[in-house]
Amino acid sequence: GAAVTQDIGSIEAGQMIVVKYRGKPIFVVKRTEDMLATLASVKPLLSDPESDASLQPEYCKNPERSISPEVLVVEGVCTHLGCAPNYRPDVGAADLGGNDWYGGFFCPCHGSKYDLAGRVYSGVPAPLNLPVPDYNMDGTILTIG
Ligand code: FES
Repeated sequence: GAAVTQDIGSIEAGQMIVVKYRGKPIFVVKRTEDMLATLASVKPLLSDPESDASLQPEYCKNPERSISPEVLVVEGVCTHLGCAPNYRPDVGAADLGGNDWYGGFFCPCHGSKYDLAGRVYSGVPAPLNLPVPDYNMDGTILTIG
């Protein structure tokens, strides 16, 4: 089939890799405990914190939007007009809102911001959270699709 397999065992904590799947970039982030702790703090700033309106498999409709909390898998395609957001894990970045920035993804095209679960901030052009594709994990082996 069209499934793509990637060994993610060598991704370092806090790092992101990009895997191509059906022509789309898939962002895979190895989240740290500190990063996971931001997911609750950032909720008041988000437009769909429970991911009710966004696309994800049922098994990823949870607070981390993932199968294992430390591994985030999302489409790297802005839900506004499809640009590729930049990975910006730098908490408190002055250009992204200072104390209101908990780390995540920033779309340089029109300024949409997403948290470390791909959930979109309120008040930006993007309407939805980044979609989570179908995937599964077998040890360190990630299969997308
Ligand atoms: Fe990302 Fe417009 S395409 S903000």
